[in-house]
Amino acid sequence: MSKESKDYSKYFDFSGAKVLSEDEHGKRIRINGREINILSEPNHRQEKQRGKQSVEVLYDTELPEEFRRIGAGKHYIVYTYGCQMNEHDSETIKGLLEQMGYQATEDRKQADIILLNTCAIRENAEDKVFGELGHLKHLKIEKPDMLLGVCGCMSQEESVVNRILQKHGFVDLIFGTHNVHRLPHLIQEALFSKEMVVEVWSKEGDIIENLPKKREGLRGWVNIMYGCDKFCTYCIVPYTRGKERSRRPEDVIAEVRELARQGYKEITLLGQNVNAYGKDFEDIEYRFGDLMDAIHKIDIPRVRFTTSHPRDFDDHLIEVLAKGGNLVEHIHLPVQSGSSQVLKKMSRKYTRETYLELAHKIKKAIPNVAFTTDIIVGFPGETDEQFEETLSLVREVGYDAAYTFIYSPREGTPAAVMEDNVPMEVKSERLQRLNAAISEYSRQSNDRLLGATVEVLVEGVSKNNDSMLSGRTRTNKLVHFEGSRDLVGTFVNVQITDTKTWYIKGDMISNPIPASDAV
Ligand code: SAH
Ligand code: SF4
Ligand code: F3S
Repeated sequence: MSKESKDYSKYFDFSGAKVLSEDEHGKRIRINGREINILSEPNHRQEKQRGKQSVEVLYDTELPEEFRRIGAGKHYIVYTYGCQMNEHDSETIKGLLEQMGYQATEDRKQADIILLNTCAIRENAEDKVFGELGHLKHLKIEKPDMLLGVCGCMSQEESVVNRILQKHGFVDLIFGTHNVHRLPHLIQEALFSKEMVVEVWSKEGDIIENLPKKREGLRGWVNIMYGCDKFCTYCIVPYTRGKERSRRPEDVIAEVRELARQGYKEITLLGQNVNAYGKDFEDIEYRFGDLMDAIHKIDIPRVRFTTSHPRDFDDHLIEVLAKGGNLVEHIHLPVQSGSSQVLKKMSRKYTRETYLELAHKIKKAIPNVAFTTDIIVGFPGETDEQFEETLSLVREVGYDAAYTFIYSPREGTPAAVMEDNVPMEVKSERLQRLNAAISEYSRQSNDRLLGATVEVLVEGVSKNNDSMLSGRTRTNKLVHFEGSRDLVGTFVNVQITDTKTWYIKGDMISNPIPASDAV
């Protein structure tokens, strides 16, 4: 909470709110009969700021003894929406809850606390959460003592917090992406006061190390940086996640070594823009290529990373990735549009030509590389010709897969006020055409694997058939094949016999293949 007294009417335009008290710790108000303790609320203006203030790394995050019994005998559920960053935050949230004594459950009726870790990237992501809140209202009526919390990117938005305060007064807790480590304190406060507790910091962000994490599955996520400074004109992330800040290399490397020691077979390094890693270090010259080079030497079989922005993809990184080994031949390289004019309006800071140049350079250095991408159709004012340029770029690069989206205006971003004369039917039709093109290329790249032998990390057993296993190639292709469940978590060689658009099928073969031939 900043020391200056805040004019709440600026953020929350409700007339029925009554201020009960106010001091340096926050403000208590009453809306529709519900008392709300606002420790700190989102502030869009502040979220835009990128000051010179250096990033603080906090290591001392031991949970005090008095919090460790709060959840004894109680159960939790965390629902996660959005990207891998959020998935990974949920692992921290679960880790903290378990440190407090809570146990996981999947049964809503058994849960004493339910948290929704939300995503704000598109309107439909937000609609899902409000829909879920509608369902949870009934549970809350049946079980008034259950705590219901909303966190993640939506809670960083003023309009969302306002809407929850106004219309979903049964929520007990709202906390932001910079407040995850404060969860034990906030739960204590909500349990003790029975008021709705709101704590959303809009500061640029620190780095909090040593928080507990409850990792699940074979694949470990490792944050290498937080936040985003790119401010693409359509995107909410720079406002919900704060400024770009990199974890210290020694902390990242220690975490990766620890995961290797625990037997993880695959890790994914996470950041909104991993290629900007290290740009914010003031004392050392150390970039993403250097980090990958160090991780290349660690004994963990597969290393992935996401997401890489085309702009900061430098030659040193390409050189390091070309070493192969545990650095897999898959690069997610979001293009967003194939038109330089649209890219300019999106403020992506590269052109169609420089993107293609980069893709060719990478292909030359890593011949069996698989590219995937993200594409937005129907950006404000996108013309038919500009959309055709996206289709032609898709053909030229030949992506193995792509996430495609219809542009969704996000309040407070520059694109939200750009004139948009493209009707929704046109946008939908473009999306369909784009998806058809992507499917065609995905199918072609799968077909090329017919008869080849691929190295597969076995991830699980098919839901419908106990003897069918599934896993992924180094290039992230989904493979189904017959085998026994004790192979889960191991690497096997599979010869491809059948291909579909989004997966391939094959037979497990016993003779091993040299890692260098694996695809
Ligand atoms: N940091 C990543 C993207 C994270 S968001 C990057 O820059 O590549 C994931 C994807 O969501 C984006 O790549 C973009 O394609 C899409 N997206 C972001 N904002 C959007 C919006 N307002 N409407 C539609 N799609 C959006
Ligand atoms: Fe959003 Fe652009 Fe940052 Fe990606 S790089 S998170 S699209 S602002
Ligand atoms: Fe969504 Fe936030 Fe990720 S907006 S995509 S959860 S960074």
